[in-house]
Amino acid sequence: MLQSRIAGVGHYVPENVVTNEDLSKLMDTNDAWIQERTGIKERRWIDPKTDVTTATMGTEAARKAIKNAGITPDDVDFIIFATLSPDYYFPGPGVQVQQALGIAEIGALDVRNQCSGFIYALSIADKFIKTGTYKNVLVIGSENHSGGLDKTTRGRGVSVIFGDGAGAVLMQPTEDKNKGVLTTHLHSEGQHAKELALIGPSTSHWVDKMLAENDPEDTSYYPYMNGNFVFKHAVTRFQEVIHEALNATDLKVEDIDLLIPHQANLRISQFIQQKMQLPNEKVFNNIQKYGNTTAASIPIALSEAVEQGKLKDGDLLCLAAFGSGFTWASTLIRW
Ligand code: ACO
Repeated sequence: MLQSRIAGVGHYVPENVVTNEDLSKLMDTNDAWIQERTGIKERRWIDPKTDVTTATMGTEAARKAIKNAGITPDDVDFIIFATLSPDYYFPGPGVQVQQALGIAEIGALDVRNQCSGFIYALSIADKFIKTGTYKNVLVIGSENHSGGLDKTTRGRGVSVIFGDGAGAVLMQPTEDKNKGVLTTHLHSEGQHAKELALIGPSTSHWVDKMLAENDPEDTSYYPYMNGNFVFKHAVTRFQEVIHEALNATDLKVEDIDLLIPHQANLRISQFIQQKMQLPNEKVFNNIQKYGNTTAASIPIALSEAVEQGKLKDGDLLCLAAFGSGFTWASTLIRW
C-alpha cells in the first residue's frame, strides 16, 4: 500500500499585531495576567478595514504549500478545509479556495472538529492517498476568531487567547514504506460539547430569535469556555493520544524528534512536555506570537518549524491536538 507524505507546507498570518498591552485598552486585563496564564505575548487579528477572511488566508497558505511541493494548483485533485470560523454559514470555504486558485471541478470537503480539525483533515487525506484515490491533496486549517470575540471585560477569559491565521500542507503518495504518515488517531467525547462552544448563530439559535428577544445579556453568540475544565481534560487527553500513536507503531517517547502540540495554551504544552520528559529542542511552540488559532495552529507551527530547519530527513514528527467537542487526535509522521 502507498504511504502519504507531506510534500509542501505554507502559512499566512494577518499583518495586524495585537499585543497584550493593546488588549488592556479594550478590557480590564494586563500583560502579566495573560503571559502567566497562557504564555501569549501577542496575536494577529485581521484588520476589519481589510478584506482578509478565513478563506483568503487559507488560500494564501495553500498557494505557499503548493509552491513548496513543486506543483501547480492544476495538479491539486482534492481539497480539505478545517475551520470553526467559515466565511459563510454555508457553503464552507473549501470551494472558495478552489475558485480562488482557479482549480477545476475537483472535490472540496469542509471539516469542523475545532482545534483537532487539522489532524482530522490530515487523517482523511492520508486515507484518500493510501487507497490511491487522490495524488495531490491540499489540507488547510484557517481561522478568523477576531471578528466574533467579545472584546469587553465580560469576554476577557476567552478573547485574550484566540488569534487569526492559516496554515496548509500538500500531501502526496510515496512508495517508501518508512516515510510519511505512520498512524493517525481520532477521538471525541460529546458529553462535554458545551464546555467549549459557540452556540449561535445556528439552527438551535437563529439570529431571528436574538433580534426578537433583543437581550443585551445574551452571550450565546460569543464563544464560551470553561477554562479550568478544558485545561484538566486537555493535559490528560494530549498525553493519552500521543502514547496511543506510539504504542500503535512500537515507537517510544525518546524516538520523537519533534512534537508540535496544538497551540492551545503554553502552560498546556509545557505540562505535556514535562510529563513526557521531552527536552525543549523537541517541542515546537509559537503561541507566544500568534495565540490559539485552533485548526490553523498546527499547520502554522509546522510551516515555521520547516522554515527554521527543525525537521530533517527521517525525523519522527508527532502532531497532537485537543479541543472543543471535546475532540482530540494525534499522528506520527516520518519526515
Ligand atoms: N485578564 C485578567 N483577569 C482575567 C482574565 C483576563 N484576560 N480572564 C479572567 N480573569 C480573571 C477572572 O475573572 C478571575 O477573577 P476572580 O478570581 O476575581 O473571579 C481570575 O482571573 C481567575 O480566572 P480563571 O478563569 O480561574 O483563571 P485561570 O487561572 O483558570 O486561567 C485560563 C484562565 C487561561 C483560560 C485557563 O483556565 C486555561 O488556560 N484554560 C485552558 C483553556 C485553554 O487553553 N483553552 C484553549 C484550549 S482548547 C482549544 O484550543 C479550543
